[in-house]
Amino acid sequence: MFDAKDFIKKSLEEIKKEVKNERVISACSGGVDSSVTSILVHKAVGKNSLTVFIDDGLRREGEPEFVVKAFENLGIKIRYVNEKIKFFTALKGKTDAEEKRKAFRHTFYSALGRVAKKQNAKFLAQGTIAADIVETVKGVKTQHNVLDQIGIDPKKYGFDIIEPLRELYKPEVRMVARELELPLEISERMPFPGPALSIRVLGEVTPDKVEISRKATKIVEEETKELKAFQSFAVLHSDKATGTKDGKRVYGNIITVRVVESKDAITAKAMKVPYETLNKIYRRITGEIPTVVRCLVDITDKPPATIEFE
Ligand code: XMP
Repeated sequence: MFDAKDFIKKSLEEIKKEVKNERVISACSGGVDSSVTSILVHKAVGKNSLTVFIDDGLRREGEPEFVVKAFENLGIKIRYVNEKIKFFTALKGKTDAEEKRKAFRHTFYSALGRVAKKQNAKFLAQGTIAADIVETVKGVKTQHNVLDQIGIDPKKYGFDIIEPLRELYKPEVRMVARELELPLEISERMPFPGPALSIRVLGEVTPDKVEISRKATKIVEEETKELKAFQSFAVLHSDKATGTKDGKRVYGNIITVRVVESKDAITAKAMKVPYETLNKIYRRITGEIPTVVRCLVDITDKPPATIEFE
């Protein structure tokens, strides 16, 4: 049986031993994995750590403000870094899922490399968990936060990496979060992929398309809140479909709604969402996002699908 208290004790000792008197920056997206990591590092090395939120312009609605506030409330210093333009520039023209992930990864670590240099930090702490490593090494996908396990030397970006959660799976990370007394909004937070909405906009990513997927995601999350799904979200397709709006034929966007149950994200089941809920979701999405003319529902388990579309 996993003992969260014991894990925290050992982890703090390990971080102290590894970091010594050097400085560490912690990349925090506000998800449970990176939040727990940032807090462990902060507890272990105090003033020698700085939590960093990179705003890639691809987060859910209100996410940057939420993360900054949550850390301020915990009394932990957090640095907000606006890198939106760099991410959209890096993703411009890229349509292949793996190319997009690689562009995201490179932009993300380059941004952190600049912060590390400014802060004179030797280490980057990040919330990689066991499932991230397993899937990337198996070749299921290039998880954005897995580097040295696939032969990329993090020194290229100017830091060494520490990953206190690399042996844990999601349920254990949540146990650690509860033990650390993190607010429920963080400890029970729905997983959200590192490359964020860039992999929920199929094909090329533009600010306009991200905005559509952001609005649709918000609607899906709001309407499925009571279902306690492992993940629920919206995906914007790259192709279009015919619809009618105000009595006229239009060629508009397609959104797929995906709601899944899972324990550790390694396998997942498409959830049986009540028809009334789906009906409300499609009405809200097509009503509140005028360019969307069609909503689909994904009924595929993982395997054979994956949770995300890209
Ligand atoms: P898939 O789509 O492979 O996703 O079934 C499994 C879980 O991982 C999340 N995911 C990611 N998380 N970086 C992350 O930090 C990534 O590149 C990434 N890709 C997928 C996904 O949301 C699900 O919880």
